[in-house]
Amino acid sequence: MSSIVNEWSIIEEGFDPERHEASESLFSIGNGHMGQRANFEERYSGPSLQGSYIAGIYYPDKTRVGWWKNGYPEYFAKVLNAPNWIGIDVVVNGHALDLATCKVEDFRRVLDMKRGVLTRDFIATMADGARLKIEALRFVSMARREVGVVRYRATALSDLSLHLRPYLDGDVTNRDSNYNEKFWNIQETGAEAGKAFLVAQTRKLDFRVGFAMALQITAKGEIASSAAAGATMADNVFVLHLKAGESVELVKYVGVVTSEDHPKNTLRAKAEKAAQAAMAAGVSTLFAEHEAKWADIWNHSDIVVEGDAAAQQGIRFNIFHLNQTYTGEDERLNIGPKGFTGEKYGGSTYWDTEAFCIPFYICAAPARVTRNLLIYRYKHLEKAIENAAKLGFKDGAALYPMVTMNGEECHNEWEITFEEIHRNGAIAYAIFNYIQHTGDEAYLAEYGLEVLIGIARFWAQRATFSSDKGKYVILGVTGPNEYENNVNNNWYTNTIASWCLDYAREAIGIVGHIAPDRLGEIITKTKLDRAQELAHWEAVAKGMHYPVDPRSGLFLQQDGYLDKEQVTVADLDSQERPINQHWSWDRILRSPFIKQADLLMGFYLFEDRFDAEAHRRHFDYYEARTVHESSLSPCTHAVLAARLGLMEKAYAMYLRTARLDLDDYNHEVEEGLHITSMAGTWLAIVEGFGGKRIKNGKLSFDPQIPAEWQKYAFRLLYQDQPVEVSVSRDGVEVRYGGPKPLTVAIWGADHVLTPGEPLRLSHADSAGMPRKLA
Ligand code: BGC
Repeated sequence: MSSIVNEWSIIEEGFDPERHEASESLFSIGNGHMGQRANFEERYSGPSLQGSYIAGIYYPDKTRVGWWKNGYPEYFAKVLNAPNWIGIDVVVNGHALDLATCKVEDFRRVLDMKRGVLTRDFIATMADGARLKIEALRFVSMARREVGVVRYRATALSDLSLHLRPYLDGDVTNRDSNYNEKFWNIQETGAEAGKAFLVAQTRKLDFRVGFAMALQITAKGEIASSAAAGATMADNVFVLHLKAGESVELVKYVGVVTSEDHPKNTLRAKAEKAAQAAMAAGVSTLFAEHEAKWADIWNHSDIVVEGDAAAQQGIRFNIFHLNQTYTGEDERLNIGPKGFTGEKYGGSTYWDTEAFCIPFYICAAPARVTRNLLIYRYKHLEKAIENAAKLGFKDGAALYPMVTMNGEECHNEWEITFEEIHRNGAIAYAIFNYIQHTGDEAYLAEYGLEVLIGIARFWAQRATFSSDKGKYVILGVTGPNEYENNVNNNWYTNTIASWCLDYAREAIGIVGHIAPDRLGEIITKTKLDRAQELAHWEAVAKGMHYPVDPRSGLFLQQDGYLDKEQVTVADLDSQERPINQHWSWDRILRSPFIKQADLLMGFYLFEDRFDAEAHRRHFDYYEARTVHESSLSPCTHAVLAARLGLMEKAYAMYLRTARLDLDDYNHEVEEGLHITSMAGTWLAIVEGFGGKRIKNGKLSFDPQIPAEWQKYAFRLLYQDQPVEVSVSRDGVEVRYGGPKPLTVAIWGADHVLTPGEPLRLSHADSAGMPRKLA
């Protein structure tokens, strides 16, 4: 097998069964409503992870732990492997076409990221010598969310008889299941000439999904056909003879509808309607509509890199998968760390959304997309309050879950469930970030403030006063670095907690100003004691303890961090990396090694609080101890390194994040892609190399260019208006597409961008000041 670097496509040539599951992940397709791994249409008896997922359809898998602890959740929510709608059995002269057993030549699998389409071609030689060429094409429509299309062409290279059996199959399982249960009941199946349907129901929660296929088959000779429906499957069978050189083309138009969007008793009819309408439109029209949607997506989120094809392919791969996973139309949905590409992490929501994905969507998609992600958490506020109450907090304190589908906590490792509470901070920060970018302060009045009050109350109760230190402390936590648990005063957690307490007070002031009546309503609803509670929040924020090394003045990741053996990543034996695959957990916990940006996450969020020297000292110290064993880590370090002008380091970190899955750095891509960290890759370019920030209400850039690149260009939306930045070896060009002039800062100096008139600056001269080009 070889993979070819192409700027718009992922290309695999030659079939390697050993890499098949990895390719199933890499070539996944999706449209926000549904998505699937690149499983073959025909049966495959080799190792394969069957994965077809429908957003929001999950199963509460009963918790399984060795030792129960009070406060553990009852279940872990899993997005389910849903009935298989792509399947087409192919039988050649009575023998099943199976790439694990036949001879395969000229295998080529292509994911066209520009158009969102997966194709696969190969020539198969069967045991009896029969030969045929297969050309398969598949997409899930971006324009019609409930429609998927498979076009399957077979060309005989020798005379042969062929059975094609397109089917819908509800007899599916999840690889990850706590009790090896079946998750689906099949309620209804049916088949007639040229069509079939299947209605499935999830066990326990009774989600229903309707699938219908409409079939079009074209071949020269006679085709005998039949239709059948069984307990879990519905199909059509087409039987034909092809002479060498003759072809058959089968198109499977599939409608996939759910009870989340339609009444339960209409699902069969709705799915059939979607499939029939798709067939009436035909593949070309469907494809044109789909392609137009992708063009639109690329129009506001593409990043162009010149002079480095691998980097170009890497960033597009990331942007592509993010857009396939979440389109922002439905505020009940969110972004699982693996999206629609695997089962790991259950498809549930993590802090990844607020910490990494929102900073991406805020710029790369219209404001409503981020707004919907924020509303998702607003709708879970009651559950977050219940969650906190379960742990002993009171009076409306809210602790958002570490992992969730519907607002209830699903995670069940005490050191994370109960202790990795910094997640609450990311949720508050995302509200702030959204308002900074969009200017949508009304969001605070409508939704945001209630969330901020719940979160502030949590921190105010979770921080306790240490009379020994004369400070507020936050004990027994896990920071973003999961390689140590139950620490006291994790610097990042304390920092984000006190920021939340300040921002909640500020937000109350803003809402009081822009919508005083609404503030009155919120105060009544939340029973906020404005005088007393706010005074306490202020006292906690001001009096927070931050661990510091008295000798060097360095902030410490947590109390006692210096007691650890002071070795660095450079001292590690490369054979023992990643340490999580080589060391005992006990050894990891005692070591100084940091899984992912932790204290440096605080420097990333609050960079203005620290001067360049402090920044540099903390970066050098903590980067030397960070093993980046979470995909969420290198991107943050890339942004920080770029800020410090450490472009080589920034570039190395960028490549590690951008091609993490394509180059399978962690040898685990078969489990699915790292969707949430893909947002971090975008941040590495835009915030890292481009130096994009919002400072005092002003959009600003501090562009630099990696030595390996000739040019790069990105687009973003600021206050929902397009800004284009292009950075070459000579300088920078910025264009603005909004209705009125906009003042931006570039390399620290203000410039007015006039719509339609590009601003060109050369790179800073030796004094660090930009020179305006004539
Ligand atoms: C990381 C967490 C992250 C989770 C899901 C873990 O490995 O440490 O920060 O939320 O993966 O991506």
